[in-house]
Amino acid sequence: MSAVRPAHRVTTRHAQAIYPFTTGGGLGGRGAFIGRDASGGAFCFDPWVLYDDGLLDDPNAIVIGKLGQGKSALVKTLLWRMLLFGRRAFVLDVKSEYGPLCASVGVRPIALAPGGGVRLNPLSARPEEHAQIELLRAIATTAIGQRLDQTEAAALREALRLVRSREAEPTLPQIAAVLFDPPGEMASRLQTDPGRLAGDTRRAALALQDLCEGPLKGIFDGPTSPGIDLDARLVVIDLHAVRDSPAVGILMACATAWMSAQLAHTADPSSDARGRLINVADESWKIIQHGGLGEWFQSNFKLARQFGVMNLVVLHKLGDLQAAGDAGSRAARIAEGLIADASTRVIYHQDESQIPLTRELLGLSATEARMLTRLAPGQALWRVGSRSFVVQHYRSRIERRLTDTDGGMRIDAR
Ligand SMILES: Nc1ncnc2c1ncn2[C@@H]1O[C@H](COP(=O)(O)OP(=O)(O)O)[C@@H](O)[C@H]1O
Ligand SMILES: [Mg+2]
Repeated sequence: MSAVRPAHRVTTRHAQAIYPFTTGGGLGGRGAFIGRDASGGAFCFDPWVLYDDGLLDDPNAIVIGKLGQGKSALVKTLLWRMLLFGRRAFVLDVKSEYGPLCASVGVRPIALAPGGGVRLNPLSARPEEHAQIELLRAIATTAIGQRLDQTEAAALREALRLVRSREAEPTLPQIAAVLFDPPGEMASRLQTDPGRLAGDTRRAALALQDLCEGPLKGIFDGPTSPGIDLDARLVVIDLHAVRDSPAVGILMACATAWMSAQLAHTADPSSDARGRLINVADESWKIIQHGGLGEWFQSNFKLARQFGVMNLVVLHKLGDLQAAGDAGSRAARIAEGLIADASTRVIYHQDESQIPLTRELLGLSATEARMLTRLAPGQALWRVGSRSFVVQHYRSRIERRLTDTDGGMRIDAR
């Protein structure tokens, strides 16, 4: 015998308290189309619109989930759709998987690899002298692996000035050459003599020389290769080949300089707000663990509101955060900070064992947490500010080609 309940009429505003996922009412139709929410309605998302409406505290987003659930696919389609609206994007690609997206947008990924033929001159990221001094010091610090002393810092400044007076575009080998053999005029500016100066700055000279002639030879040792456009609307830096090397740290210094130039431009009130920047780190666990890079992301997350940048970070699972060791706990603190500064959290399928930690760090309800083990590939729980949605991500035929990571160019039947 089955009892039939009488119908109950209620507004969606009230019903969402009882059925939080089925009658949430969506976020409105503005922004990029993501897919369908549980009620079958179109789910659209634009962090800037929602921020302006007061629904989000910041434009940052974090995407978490087991491997192979469609996290990267979401990011790629989001970029593809947002680029159509004139947004711009900067991507750190650890798995070398953004090539198809780049091809569709008509740009080339910048694949850094020793002997790979792509050269980036870190000093050309900013043309101004003061910015180049900062960059050069950051690069030398990373190359040495320790803080610079006063003499080294001053010598780098003078060496850069000297090279700038001679060359249109200073490069690292030119700086190293000046440090090895400083001219008398430079030494006297530093109140010392050339022999002594060369001795005092030998550590920095050797470190720069090794950067140019050691295992990373060919990446940072000359003018930027022709055809590389750092002002393109999509800039993808492919770190796959160098992901475990000090190159990542150097690159970070360049990326920071490049980014601050871009941010200064986008923050300019007269600039076009449509050109707002999306800063992506896919598989960012690797990136966060890198000395300096995690901090870079941390400061970007903090600056997001000021500059209107959307930082989008993809993490595999939060259990990684409990990794042992100094580097592990440092990275864990950074990742926890990123989560705290991201008002949008997109959570894909998680194994049972990950649920308690995920729930605690992301502040999920018991119902939300339970749901995570039942999500199918392409489905995610979206926590947008204080609201929740279960969204089935939609990919068009073209987008499938941009996002398939397990089947080459296979196109699934719908
Ligand atoms: N929206 C989706 N619906 C169904 N399957 C998807 C969807 N997005 C991606 N996939 C499939 O999942 C595979 C892995 O996707 P990927 O984005 O690389 O996962 P992740 O980044 O989470 O490891 C893709 O090759 C694709 O076939
Ligand atoms: Mg991925």
